[in-house]
Amino acid sequence: MPDTYSPPESGMAADLLAGLTATPKTISSRWLYDRRGSELFEEITGLEEYYPTRTEHAIFQDHAEDMAEAIGPGAVLVEYGAGALVKTRLVLDALEAPRAYVPIDISGPFLRDAAAGLQADYPGLDIHPVVADFTEEVDLSDAPGAEGGRVGFFPGSTIGNLENHEIVAFFRAARSSLGRNARFLLGVDLKKDPAILVPAYDDARGVTAAFNLNLLERFNRELGTDFDVSAFAHEARWNEDEGRIEMHLVARRDTSVRLDGHEITFRAGESVRTEISRKFEFAALDRLLDQAGWRRENTWQDEKGYFAVTLLV
Ligand code: AVI
Repeated sequence: MPDTYSPPESGMAADLLAGLTATPKTISSRWLYDRRGSELFEEITGLEEYYPTRTEHAIFQDHAEDMAEAIGPGAVLVEYGAGALVKTRLVLDALEAPRAYVPIDISGPFLRDAAAGLQADYPGLDIHPVVADFTEEVDLSDAPGAEGGRVGFFPGSTIGNLENHEIVAFFRAARSSLGRNARFLLGVDLKKDPAILVPAYDDARGVTAAFNLNLLERFNRELGTDFDVSAFAHEARWNEDEGRIEMHLVARRDTSVRLDGHEITFRAGESVRTEISRKFEFAALDRLLDQAGWRRENTWQDEKGYFAVTLLV
């Protein structure tokens, strides 16, 4: 997830081996975000071609009052992943007397820094960081808002980096950990012309390519693998059937890597899928939400209909 550092000890080698011995080969996108990867992702969010961040930001700016009215006073905001906090600040500024902010993140040090920075600007706000992996059910019994009415917050369309069954599992777990009368403010990227989507994931300056290739550099750094990084090229593909952008690393020539006593070979032209980024249509999103017990109550969009922020109940 953006801005979190997955510790190398958490099953990285086993996960990589499982992905590279599967057919077709894959690498889990969770390993994209080491320190370098998080810096590159931050750079991506400012690229001309990468419309999601600025579009979502504009939706929060333009509809902040409506959102605040729909949410009501005294909210307890529970954020899944503590990102750059730019959007968090927009929402906190708009809300009427928010009572508490509960950021959930897997990285303790990162979370503490983020919370401390925010506390300085919002001295009266009860900030209650929770170190946990939010892809599993998080225990929020000691966090503010246990009596009900918490508001989950997951901007950036990070939900789109999950498979359908993972999205349903995430929202089921969120429903149970948020508790009674919960609501959820969600940012989702919408389906659009591939001529806009593909460059957003394959920018002219090659920042996204560097972000993708950093995966192999990270494995070489942290696991001592011997990936020949120059033997791979970044590719962004639009998968029409699945309604998603996929990042791939494609072998430019025959190459191989040694990992835990195994030698894994790649034929020239063979690709490894490293990330999916789902672009939603409301009907498909509603079906997933329905399976997890949520429904959209309010939805705000930009003028071009590129992105949506929606309040779920
Ligand atoms: C974090 N996530 C929502 C980004 C996305 O757009 O799917 C990650 C990303 N991958 C390449 N560019 C950005």
